[in-house]
Amino acid sequence: MNILLTGGTGYIGSHTAVALAEAGHHVVLFDNFCNSQPDVAQRLHTLTGQALPLVEGDVRNTALLTHTLQAHQISAVIHFAGLKAVGESVAQPLDYYANNVQGSISLLQAMQAAQVNTLVFSSSATVYGEPHYLPLDETHPTAATNPYGRSKLHIEEILRDACAADPALRVLCLRYFNPVGAHASGLIGDNPRGVPNNLMPYLSRVAAGELPHVNVFGADYPTIDGTGVRDYIHVADLASGHLAALAHLAQRPGFDVINLGTGQGYSVLQMIDAFAAASGRPVPHRIVPRRAGDIAACYARPDKAARLLGWQATRTLQDMCRDTWHWQIRGAGHEQLEQLGSVPNLPPGNPQHSPHIP
Ligand code: NAD
Ligand code: UFG
Repeated sequence: MNILLTGGTGYIGSHTAVALAEAGHHVVLFDNFCNSQPDVAQRLHTLTGQALPLVEGDVRNTALLTHTLQAHQISAVIHFAGLKAVGESVAQPLDYYANNVQGSISLLQAMQAAQVNTLVFSSSATVYGEPHYLPLDETHPTAATNPYGRSKLHIEEILRDACAADPALRVLCLRYFNPVGAHASGLIGDNPRGVPNNLMPYLSRVAAGELPHVNVFGADYPTIDGTGVRDYIHVADLASGHLAALAHLAQRPGFDVINLGTGQGYSVLQMIDAFAAASGRPVPHRIVPRRAGDIAACYARPDKAARLLGWQATRTLQDMCRDTWHWQIRGAGHEQLEQLGSVPNLPPGNPQHSPHIP
């Protein structure tokens, strides 16, 4: 199948590109690089042995999208492109609605013009808001607490309406829990700009010595050890979930939402211990006040994905920490560690910013 990945050079898109190419699909990447680097395409070439076509453009450019869908004879789209920083969305809500909501409408219009009927959309567990019960199943009420989350909810509703109006349309919204980890090669991974907001990249940089300690946002939650609990899912498991989603859509028209999580929650302190063990490095921490807007615990009931997609996560917390660390020393943070003199056997330079892929 010829599949277009909007946001295909981003964190989740790039891992999904590998999984799709390995499964024999023809992948086309579409990205404006507002939060990724073009050299990801070279890394994907190294990993897949294929030069995946890459179109530079904004999803709000409906004409370019329509042309891309037609020129590459696309039969399905996975829509990763979007802005995702919660704090930034509070400060710049219009940017988030313009990029995420308007971008999705533009994509739907392009799909309609090019007669492409199959769409997988990157939604988020954030659409559940404060949990009324745990684990979260897909019938849990939705309630976003910030513009980022609201943009996801708006898009889900728009997609539902579009499916109601067009019986040929097939749309699956995948509600991701907390994606972490990296490709086992260490060639692609999450590379947030500046100081990371999310826990896993923060742990990784503390272990690498780039940051002094982890700030644990609250130790007075009603959880196993007082710290926040989340459902961390390996990005490679998430990637295989998209393959299962496409196979499902081939059988089932209409609209649906499905959680992609493991069903298992881990606390911040458990994550710190696991990362220290995986990296063999100390991960010092300090307890600080709660972060505004955080919830105590959030984890999925993943039964619907198992039942409808035949999919479940297989990778462990140890796998997630090991692969994040491997990415840190081989990809994202190589240069910094090299300066510390702590990675003696790696080639010089930071492959993330180098034209040559070792
Ligand atoms: P990412 O930022 O790494 O990837 C998104 C990609 O989309 C980037 O390459 C960016 O350059 C591109 N992009 C953004 N706006 C664009 C536009 N208007 N036109 C073209 N390209 C554009 O993020 P990710 O972690 O890979 O997330 C992918 C999707 O999954 C996003 O929609 C995000 O909201 C969703 N999601 C992510 C998480 C998470 O924790 N990573 C959790 C739940 C949902
Ligand atoms: N945490 C810390 N210190 C840090 C960073 C995080 O203690 O430096 C804690 C948080 O308080 C929380 C847990 O670690 O208890 C996880 O926090 P993250 O920021 O990694 O993830 P969130 O669950 O807050 O949110 C993430 C994405 C959202 C997405 C949500 C569900 O950032 O966009 O997962 O998919 F909506």
